[in-house]
Amino acid sequence: MRHLSVNVDYVAVIRESRKTVEPDPVFAAGIVEMAGAHGITAHLREDRRHIVDRDVRMLREVVKLPFNLEMAATDEMMSIASEVVPDQVTFVPEKREEITTEGGLDVVRNRGKLERMVHHLKSRGIVTSMFIDPDLEQIEMSKLIGSDCVELHTGEYANAKTQEEAKKHMESLKKGAVFGLEMGLEIHAGHGLTYKNISGITPVEEISGYYIGHSIMARSVYVGLDNAVRDMLALLAGQVR
Ligand code: PXP
Repeated sequence: MRHLSVNVDYVAVIRESRKTVEPDPVFAAGIVEMAGAHGITAHLREDRRHIVDRDVRMLREVVKLPFNLEMAATDEMMSIASEVVPDQVTFVPEKREEITTEGGLDVVRNRGKLERMVHHLKSRGIVTSMFIDPDLEQIEMSKLIGSDCVELHTGEYANAKTQEEAKKHMESLKKGAVFGLEMGLEIHAGHGLTYKNISGITPVEEISGYYIGHSIMARSVYVGLDNAVRDMLALLAGQVR
């Protein structure tokens, strides 16, 4: 069974656009849970532009589903993760000027730091994942530093302008997924996935988890969050709605 972890950052984006108290990503997480998703994800950015510390603490407390905290590999984030103890930490690269996460993490270059962080989180019982491009060297290094999972960046696939280009990126995701699974990693995928383009990725059987935010939240504006989550779950289960 493929799992779907729904990213609730965009609920906080709307709230922060007015610096008010609604909509609340914690409420949204409750609806996502009742709709049948398998996990909740939130990205606490260094600049707190959407998710804030209170959200992370409350999500941990309120949500019964596995809670995946996306964060940069910094001392500040490590101290929050150690205190909150999410079920999973996904390390992501972070640049202040980007609109959303661009490009995968360079695990090879940051090997020493990430290895220490993974070791520390694992000692607290937290599952670890690396958000990386489907690059075999990055996948191998993720395993070597002790990560449990990798989340393969699907942004290039999602942004492909032609079918041939999409096919090329899908093949590289497949190759990475096969290699990662062989190495003993759990394989996830995320970024830019939509109700339209997900069908090009679901044939990659090695991918066991999907991390999706924007597209689900966009659809929820029209059909409600409950329906939006159920529609994506149906696509992942191969039952088109
Ligand atoms: N996975 C990671 C690591 C991300 O940074 C993001 C975006 O916050 C997502 C998945 C979800 O991407 P999207 O919002 O495009 O579905």
